[in-house]
Amino acid sequence: MPNHIQHVVVPGTFDPVTLGHVDVINRARHLFPRVTVAVAESRTKRGVGTTFTLEERVDMLRQALEDEGVSELGGIVVLPFTGLLVDFCRQQGAGGVVKGLRAMTDFEYELQQADLNAHMAPDIESVFVMSSPGFGYVSSSVVRELASLGSDVRSMVPECVAERLRIHYADER
Ligand code: PNS
Repeated sequence: MPNHIQHVVVPGTFDPVTLGHVDVINRARHLFPRVTVAVAESRTKRGVGTTFTLEERVDMLRQALEDEGVSELGGIVVLPFTGLLVDFCRQQGAGGVVKGLRAMTDFEYELQQADLNAHMAPDIESVFVMSSPGFGYVSSSVVRELASLGSDVRSMVPECVAERLRIHYADER
């Protein structure tokens, strides 16, 4: 009897969560009965840290999944994490990691991470879903840049995130 994976982790920095992320989480949940969305502290991301705090990023994700109707599927939790992803997966009892892929550039980076994770934890499977058409150009960094320039990002992020970005960059100006 094969030992099917029942629980996966969808990890990321989510600075902030985009509609592309929500799509990946939704699809992960359609593939697996339990999904833990793991928000990495990523203190050294890009050498400068994140725009939003860990608590803000977790809050936005929970609200976004609620507002976009993904939470209704059940079986989804959002948790912060620090340290190694594979250790977090083990603590949570998850058998796999699901990530989204947009372009070839994502592939190279993700392959390297998956390879490293497999080296550290061969029992944890890496699963990739291709980004849905229309989300290929959406990334947290593009969203931050456009929002900082006062552009409308409502087609790329959940409504609650667009509002948080508006407030964040209005305060900065
Ligand atoms: O959304 P991101 O920034 O592409 O997510 C990257 C993340 C958080 C999944 C990755 O940096 C990660 O797994 N960080 C935890 C530390 C770790 O396990 N590093 C070794 C694998 S690269």
